[in-house]
Amino acid sequence: MVEQPVLDMELSVSESSRAKRTMKLITSIVKSRGVLLIQFEVVVLLPVLLAGWWVFGYLGGLDWSSENSYKFNWHPLAMIIAFILLLGNAAVSYRLFPFGRSTNKKIHATLNLLAIVFIVFGLVAVLEYHADWGYNNFYSLHSWCGLVTLTAFIALALFSAAVFQDFDRTKLTELRGNFKPLHIFLGVFLVFSAVIAIETGIVEKAMFREKSGDLVWENYTTEGFLINLLCSSVLLVLLYTIYILYTLSTVIVQEPLFPHSPGNSRLQT
Ligand code: HEM
Repeated sequence: MVEQPVLDMELSVSESSRAKRTMKLITSIVKSRGVLLIQFEVVVLLPVLLAGWWVFGYLGGLDWSSENSYKFNWHPLAMIIAFILLLGNAAVSYRLFPFGRSTNKKIHATLNLLAIVFIVFGLVAVLEYHADWGYNNFYSLHSWCGLVTLTAFIALALFSAAVFQDFDRTKLTELRGNFKPLHIFLGVFLVFSAVIAIETGIVEKAMFREKSGDLVWENYTTEGFLINLLCSSVLLVLLYTIYILYTLSTVIVQEPLFPHSPGNSRLQT
């Protein structure tokens, strides 16, 4: 007959191994490629939706006329779509999208090209708006942060296009390996500087609206809450970037969404 203490010990060992297995399962689900992708899309869509709400609900919507100030509104919307939604998706496309290497590569290139169109458009909007109303250029902290961000983006785009292009691969293999740390550094730098530029831009616009009497932030107005939410959602992008970089570098990403897709290997570059 088995004595009671031995039986208790065996039971607790099997319980703890069951608990361990359950924890492992939960971790593998939470950190699986599909779940990471869904979390990522929610995090990058939130600032775009909130910016859209601000622009259409409070700033007067979009227009390209020089008679009113709505031309400016293209600037925040285009910049948030470009730097958060499009470049964010381009950055994770190789690691999280389920379509296979060559399709992911095409998506990566298309998203980057679209982002360039939005960035140029957003910049032209604010420069023309300043010219229309006779405002000075590049005097603010935000505009300086914006210029740093644009410089980082141009550097990253030019280096990457030169090194990772597919037309002449012969001498590039070693160069690609050497360039990868710089590529990652510039990418992370770009996320930080874009978040700082967006945050300073939102606060600056809010201050202009306070000065003109359109916004009374201290009275707990809905627009004030919306601005706080928008800024918080942009900060969340930064926190999530750190989380996703940590997860992708430490955890073997679990089964791909489409297991037979040829491009779903962690070894792809
Ligand atoms: C990464 C994204 C962004 C970049 C790279 C960027 C870049 C710039 C640049 C270079 C200027 C200077 C234009 C000039 O002086 O003629 C500017 C102006 C401005 N931006 Fe942005 N911007 C970004 C996002 C935003 C956002 C989200 C807002 C939110 C409303 C915003 C608000 C403003 C305002 C109010 C101005 C005019 C005043 C000033 O020159 O500082 N920006 N932006």
